[in-house]
Amino acid sequence: MAKDPTFICSKCNAATTKWSGRCDTCGEWNTIEEVKPLSSGPKSKKAMGGVRGKAIPLTDLATEEQEPPRTLSGVDELDRTLGGGLVKASALLVGGDPGIGKSTLLLQAAARFARNGLKVIYISGEESASQVQMRARRLGLTESPVKLASETNLRDILTTLEAEQPDFVIIDSIQTMWLDTVEAAPGSVSQVRSAAHELTTFAKSRGIAIVMVGHVTKEGAIAGPRVVEHMVDTVLYFEGERGHQFRILRAVKNRFGPADEIGVFEMTGKGLAEVKNPSALFLSERGDPAPGSVVFAGIEGSRPMLCEFQALVSPSPHSQPRRTVVGWDGSRLAMILAVLESRAGVPFTGLDVYLNVAGGLRVSEPAADLAVAAALISAREDAALPKESVIFGEISLSGGLRPAPQTENRLKEASKLGFTSAITPVRTKRGGDGGVTLREMPGLLAFVEQVFGAR
Ligand code: TYD
Ligand code: MG
Repeated sequence: MAKDPTFICSKCNAATTKWSGRCDTCGEWNTIEEVKPLSSGPKSKKAMGGVRGKAIPLTDLATEEQEPPRTLSGVDELDRTLGGGLVKASALLVGGDPGIGKSTLLLQAAARFARNGLKVIYISGEESASQVQMRARRLGLTESPVKLASETNLRDILTTLEAEQPDFVIIDSIQTMWLDTVEAAPGSVSQVRSAAHELTTFAKSRGIAIVMVGHVTKEGAIAGPRVVEHMVDTVLYFEGERGHQFRILRAVKNRFGPADEIGVFEMTGKGLAEVKNPSALFLSERGDPAPGSVVFAGIEGSRPMLCEFQALVSPSPHSQPRRTVVGWDGSRLAMILAVLESRAGVPFTGLDVYLNVAGGLRVSEPAADLAVAAALISAREDAALPKESVIFGEISLSGGLRPAPQTENRLKEASKLGFTSAITPVRTKRGGDGGVTLREMPGLLAFVEQVFGAR
């Protein structure tokens, strides 16, 4: 094994294992100095050894740097999700199931940004240029100054981008890109990771915003977008149920804005349309009050959003009753069922439980606990809640209730949509609630008794 070099020439940085009066590399006299090894661990080939790096300049926290320049697309739902527009020199990932509408969304975004003055290039590794043109025709975007190419070789793509100097580039998808330096099939973890790394560093060094599309994959053969999430600045997921026309663009990570922000779209025959008032849309199919149906006043990112929880409870023919959830967390449901049973005396043993969020929305807020509990009891007791009421609040394991954040926004939205009362935990902050009456509950047991009566 070669010995670690422990002598460095202070002039040319050449490393040697023994001292001498004159550097063999640059020929200078009296420049060889002994250095302490960088790592103190066991001396193996992998240790940092005696080879010094170069000192990096350090700055302090107070910089004169301005906010990164942003460009708006003009589509509010998209701009808000991006945290207030597209940031120059950034790398973004847009993940989602195949066929959910990622290419459609990004082609429309490309056209918008191009119209707002950015130089935009759309590189498709999945479709031929004519297929993309066909989609553009369907979306009515053929006049937009977006440049198009169908290519998967990353070396060629980077060479082209270097020459063209665009502002905004779309790579559809990262799983089809390949580097000739990596000996693995396109779509494998090492190819996807290396390609994303190349594109991210290229974006930073050339001041380009690059969006990579990543298909969510069920099986391990093709790497999913998760393997590159940590490299990029912004991670957006495009979600929705196949059977529904609603699509939600959700920011799960954003170095330039708040995460958890969402944009709501509707898939139409002519592409994606913005949904300006999602609460109205998610409640649109709601008829007369029915047992098991509850309106939850939720918050997604910075915006309030009303949606309907539906529960169905029926005697189970199985020894192990079913618990089926769509749009909410299954283990959170198990927790609510357990708390209802042990703290409020409402057992669900021997009963199948189905819980659904109407419209294909996915809710992850703990503030939905009370709405879920209400839907479950309402279904179990076959008793509908008042039509004009919304519900929100978090349930703790002790059976206590905790107020939810951003109460005023929730109440304002409820009032806007014609709701006149809200069932909430005590100590809920009011103010600017537009005349919504609060029915405050001190605990889960009190809630069950007051809302559903003594049983
Ligand atoms: P696409 O953007 O190709 O999905 P992804 O890139 O995520 O795989 O969208 C595919 C679906 O969208 C397809 O099933 C058809 C539908 N669609 C519409 O309903 N309207 C449209 O205008 C377009 C372009 C697509
Ligand atoms: Mg696609």
